Amino acid sequence: SKQRITVIRGDGIGPDIIDSALQVLAKVGCDFEYDFADAGLVALENHGELLPQTTLDLISQNRIALKGPLTTPVGEGFTSINVSLRKKFQLYANLRPVISFKGTKARYQDIDIVTVRENTEGMYCGLGQIVSEDGSEAQALSKITRVGAERIVVYAYELARRDGRKKVTVVHKANILKSTSGLFLKVAREVALRYPDIESTEMIVDNACMQLVMNPHQFDVIVTTNLFGDILSDLCAGLVGGLGMAPGANIGEDCAIFEAVHGSAPDIAGKNLANPTSVILAAVQMLEYLKMGTEAEKIKQALKQVIETGDRTTRDLGGVHGTSDFTQALLERL
Ligand code: NAI
Ligand code: MG
Repeated sequence: SKQRITVIRGDGIGPDIIDSALQVLAKVGCDFEYDFADAGLVALENHGELLPQTTLDLISQNRIALKGPLTTPVGEGFTSINVSLRKKFQLYANLRPVISFKGTKARYQDIDIVTVRENTEGMYCGLGQIVSEDGSEAQALSKITRVGAERIVVYAYELARRDGRKKVTVVHKANILKSTSGLFLKVAREVALRYPDIESTEMIVDNACMQLVMNPHQFDVIVTTNLFGDILSDLCAGLVGGLGMAPGANIGEDCAIFEAVHGSAPDIAGKNLANPTSVILAAVQMLEYLKMGTEAEKIKQALKQVIETGDRTTRDLGGVHGTSDFTQALLERL
């Protein structure tokens, strides 16, 4: 039977870039069955809630989803839909690879870094959120567990082995956040001993930011806690031409959700300006997860050629074209 995939088009630029990715998948002959589901502002309008049960059920059934960015209203007691999805399906590993394409406005060439972000704990665990009655004080808890730290660090080393990568850098702030980041670093050091074939280094997060900007070629695999991974992966996207180039996979034991790293980009929504590469590369990650390497490689090559030629690229890449022209150029290549 055909592979069924839950598709969430999402908010803002989501529908445009998801449709672009679906056209690309069809063009390389991927014969999936899609179940479309709502989440985000669209769902709030259509169903009165940000994350309807029907959507959760469809993700549970298919165990695999491709999703566009979702707008989480700020404040107003809404918990982030993305954080909820990651926790609900225990999608503990967030893989955020960045690679250079020639022909972008990026500052560097030959960047090939993957951030492996812990996706369920840390500052995003959602525990202990208190705001005092008069609004003058606020606090929240960060929680790290040995199990959570170990599985993400092991994931990073296994990924390094599988993909022929040479080095894993654990990024932390154990000098200040002694208990939480301290536990993460301690566990990471223990795991590192089990992988003598991979070079292991550690770096404090603020220095890591500076090093990424000054000398990014020293990095290969980065493994880190939730908040640091969120921030560092946007920084990494900036090394290769921006958020339009950055995909992310949320992976658990038996469920995975593929998406772009960026948000719904309200500033360019509905203007045919979004670069769909982010979510097309997320679809590539999905194909790799499904062991469809041939199709994945075809899409990557076509992206590379279209971006390098630069004839019909989007504004963020230095071109003058829209989402639809860029997609058309890709479809012609394929
Ligand atoms: P954003 O990532 O949506 O946009 C940041 C900047 O990058 C904007 O200038 C935008 O135009 C640009 N950009 C993003 N994607 C692009 C693309 N594909 N092509 C060209 N330019 C692109 O971040 P922002 O504005 O802080 O957040 C907007 C909304 O998105 C918020 O409601 C936030 O909660 C949500 N969000 C959702 C995420 C998700 O669903 N995974 C992740 C991050 C934010
Ligand atoms: Mg983010």
